[in-house]
Amino acid sequence: MNTLLLNDNEEDIKKAGEILREGGLVAIPTETVYGLAANALDGGAVKRIFKAKGRPADNPLIVHIADFSDIEKYNLVSEIPEKVKILAEKFWSGPLTIIMPKGKAVPDEVSAGLDTVAIRFPSHKVAQAVIKAAGCPLAAPSANLSGSPSPTEAKHVMNDLNGRIDAVVDGGECSVGLESTVITLAEDKPKLLRPGEITVGEIEKVIGKIEVDDAVLNQLKDDKKVSSPGMKYKHYSPKATVILVDSNDEEYIDFVNKNNGKGVAALCYYGDEKNIEAECFILGEKNNYKNQAQRLFKMLRKIDEEPEIKTVYARCPSVDGVGMAVYNRLIRAAGFEVIKLEDV
Ligand code: TXA
Ligand code: MG
Repeated sequence: MNTLLLNDNEEDIKKAGEILREGGLVAIPTETVYGLAANALDGGAVKRIFKAKGRPADNPLIVHIADFSDIEKYNLVSEIPEKVKILAEKFWSGPLTIIMPKGKAVPDEVSAGLDTVAIRFPSHKVAQAVIKAAGCPLAAPSANLSGSPSPTEAKHVMNDLNGRIDAVVDGGECSVGLESTVITLAEDKPKLLRPGEITVGEIEKVIGKIEVDDAVLNQLKDDKKVSSPGMKYKHYSPKATVILVDSNDEEYIDFVNKNNGKGVAALCYYGDEKNIEAECFILGEKNNYKNQAQRLFKMLRKIDEEPEIKTVYARCPSVDGVGMAVYNRLIRAAGFEVIKLEDV
């Protein structure tokens, strides 16, 4: 299959809409990461997403809409809980995904057999335009090969999926850089399943206390049931081994220099690179989690461009605010391997 590279002009967006209406796969930019879209109401089209990505069939997809009214218009949910309206008022359009009881129109392929469905209204103008051009809601996971870092630029999508999908719409770099915050309102109590740019604190300001699923910050035992199937898979990992180093600035620099050698690199904060002898990739500014979120996947992909790199010692971000999202992705990239320096 020849993958078309489309622009974000009117004509190309119309073309993307046509391909999607006919059951094809089109990668589209969103404010978080690029998504691999198909008509969410067409089970056959959705199946192709799983095949193109190599995604396990038990990992459900997010349905993307271009207006709140699309939820009812397309029968996506069986009920809109009151708190959903409050969250939507405050955070939509934007990087928040809300899980609700599934409606009749949603095929099992989207929800992976669950009785719930994840809905997201992206703020990216190109994403909205493609949904409108397609004339249907779009199921879209991140547009990477399953397991590799999510794509934040069209060229990342091409790297992973060229020849496996019909088209990519190039809308430039994604501004957030990490996937949306996922919260479920389909259970008794609201629960955070995946942290993102919209933080626990911001959500609690509008709907009160929420739970944070155990899998967000911890490695779950194999036999534990997960609320969000995506959380159980090894994720976001470059080919090199990533190890998180939990320490202060000085200890981190000393540690990397002591362990430096062939194939060693550092994923560090701006400024660290002046004192580190290994090759450095900059995660971002030390206490600027949005900056780190924006850069993380891009840096993991840059590390992949240098196959001679075998070990990456990464700074361990704090779990405050958006830091929780950066930590959540990085700890999965590291396969939960953390070195606490006072323990060494
Ligand atoms: O920012 C994003 O959310 C991006 C862009 C493209 O919108 N999409 C994205 O999709 O990250 P994906 O498939 O890579 O991640 C969706 C996550 C997975 O962890 C999945 O298990 C979870 O949401 N999820 C989807 N539907 C669910 C459901 N009904 N119940 C629990 N978890 C669900
Ligand atoms: Mg993904």
